Order: sequence, then structure tokens, then C-alpha cells
Amino acid sequence: MAEMNLKRTFRTLFGYEEHLIFFAPGRINLIGEHTDYNGGYVFPCAITKGTYVLAAKRKDQTIRMYSKNFPEKEVITLSLEDLSFQSSHDWANYPKGIILKLFEHGYTIDHGFDLLFYGNIPNGAGLSSSASIEMATGVMLEQLFNLSINRTDLVRIGQKVENEYIGVNSGIMDQFAIGMGKKNHGILLDCHTLDYQYAPLPLDNHVLLIMNTNKERTLASSQYNERRADCEAALRDLQAHTSIDTLGELSPKEFEKKKEYIKNPVNRQRARHAVYENERTKESLRRLQKGDLQGFGDLMNASHISLRDDYEVTGTELDALAEAAWTQDGCIGARMTGAGFGGCAIAIVEKNRTEAFQKNVQSYYRSVTGYDADFYEAHAGDGAKEWIGEVCFT
Ligand code: GLA
Repeated sequence: MAEMNLKRTFRTLFGYEEHLIFFAPGRINLIGEHTDYNGGYVFPCAITKGTYVLAAKRKDQTIRMYSKNFPEKEVITLSLEDLSFQSSHDWANYPKGIILKLFEHGYTIDHGFDLLFYGNIPNGAGLSSSASIEMATGVMLEQLFNLSINRTDLVRIGQKVENEYIGVNSGIMDQFAIGMGKKNHGILLDCHTLDYQYAPLPLDNHVLLIMNTNKERTLASSQYNERRADCEAALRDLQAHTSIDTLGELSPKEFEKKKEYIKNPVNRQRARHAVYENERTKESLRRLQKGDLQGFGDLMNASHISLRDDYEVTGTELDALAEAAWTQDGCIGARMTGAGFGGCAIAIVEKNRTEAFQKNVQSYYRSVTGYDADFYEAHAGDGAKEWIGEVCFT
């Protein structure tokens, strides 16, 4: 990408200089996939790549928004009085949704503003670019309008935007990881109670690699909603015989005793994933705390297999990446991350073997799918906040 200076772009777009800068990261999920909306545990971390927003308050009721990532959409101009979802507004529906939900929760935003967005996470790659835009907008409004918002409330508001405004029935993981992230740490989150703990990521002489399938996630949201509905149906069958609120309350042992209550075999399979994945997630922290990185990697591999066979959200591309990674020297573990249906996988790889790793995985991936994957090193970073300093990318 050519050198860009966002401050200059802000001035060119809006005709003045003063602004504040905010940043919200993207996220990867280390383990605990499709467990959040089942009341289970997740173990994500925020990453150092994310969304920047340069923002300034206006004196009138107008909102102007521009994204460097979607220049073809030009500057989108609207009024604070009409925040209804409009498909032509595309990416700008995420900030609009946040403003609207803040209104609905009684927060006062009494002026318009000018916003310039730029994200350095790939769009639609399953690294939560949309939740990143939402949380960047949230912290920006919090500061510009002196709103006093508890961070977990902002996280829940972000989730509501997805559920009620965008129409994806997603869980709380993405907004939580992005809102609450901490440098060099993962977050083990109980999605039922929102109790959480930060866990250092002792990677020693390993790195965390993101592998992007570069496959567009078509129909991902409708298939996502279907998986969630399968789990809800399984839960209803179980609830006819046992008093539980979520699948996350079942241990694998209890599940094995009760699974026949779930009438539809596909729903049973989905529930099995949710229950066993939840167990793996809790176990993964125990292994990390014991310094058993290989044990952690084994759980990552088992997670991918369960998402492939029981949850059926991986697909040819993610499977090709994970399977290639598993056979490489120095790879501790690999799995898809996020919702699936394309998007990204992650791998823990010995530092001095990453070059051979990428070369071999790439060549296998190309032979199976006919196109190239991208690789990036991931670093666990802080959650959404005001950004102090330059935003100049080369
Ligand atoms: C998406 C959703 C999350 C979570 C994951 C799967 O990222 O937004 O809430 O359900 O998929 O673990």
C-alpha cells in the first residue's frame, strides 16, 4: 500500500485539522469456537492490527464518514435524526448502529461529527473487522461526548448492533475481546456470567501466525445463524428432561448420558461440538499455566477437527491450511479461528521455522485450492482506546 498519512487525508476530506484518534483492535480466537452463544468459555485475544478512527465534533447535526478501505463509497453524509439501516451505506452501518443503540440506552449525543476510518485488518477475513469498527466508534463517542459507559456495557451494545441492527445472531466474544484486550495476554471468558481472567501467552520461542484463506465468506451469516438455531433446538430437547439454561453447563460425561434426548442427529452433533469444545477451552488454560505449549497445540488441533466434522464450518480452504500446518516441523498446533466458512486459521510455529512453514503450507494450499493464502504474525495487543501518536502507514 502506498504511503498514507491519515491526518492529511482528514484535512483534505473535511477541510480542517483538529481531531482526536481512536483505535480498536481485531481479534483472533485461540480456542473456544461457537461456544459463546452456547453459554460456554472462549479464549480470544485482541491483536495489534485493527481500526483507526480520526474524529471531530461538529456544531450541527450532520455526520460525515469516510473509510480509506472503501473509497468507492465516498463520504457518507447523514443526519443524527436518521440512523436507519441502509444497505447502500455498507460498512457505515456499523458506526450508525452504535450511535443508534447508544441513543436507545439513554446516552446523549447532541452534535454531529466527522469521521475518517482506516483498518489494517483484512475485511471479512474473520478477524472481526466489523466489531473493530463498532468498538472504535464506541470509544470515540464515549470520549467526544463525555459519556460515562462501563466497558462491558459498551461491549454488550456492540453485540446488540450485530444482533438487532445488522441481523447476525452472534455471541459476545468479538466485542469483548476487542473492548477488553490486554497486551501479550489472552482472555479466558465465561460467556454465561462474563467472568473473565487474563492469561499470559508464554509462546517462548514460538510465534502465532494468522493464515488467511483469502476466501470470501459468502453466506457466512446465514449459515452462522443456522448453526446457532441447531444448538438452540438441541438445548430445547435436553431441557425437556433436565434443568439447564445453556449447553455450556454440561460436562462431556453428562452430555454422553443425555445426548439421546436430542432427537435430530445433526443437532446432536452440533451440541457435542459445543460441549467438548467448552471442555477443551477450560483445559487449554490449565495446560498453558503448566507451561505445556504442546498440550495446548493438541487441543487446537482437536478443536479444528470437531469444527470440521461435528460443526461443519471449516470447508476445503480452512481444512487445507490446518492439515498442511499439522504436518510441518515446528508447528505446535493449528486451527480455524472465528466463525469459519472461509476466513482465517491460526498456527503456533517455532520462530526459526516460520519461513519453511509458510513456503510448504502455501504450496499445499495452492495445489488444493488454486489460490494463495496470506500469512501474518499476530501479537496480542490492548483493547479499544484513544490513540496517542502518529498514524502513518507505509
Ligand atoms: C463469530 C461471532 C462470535 C463467535 C464466533 C465463533 O466471530 O461473532 O460471537 O460465535 O464467530 O466462535
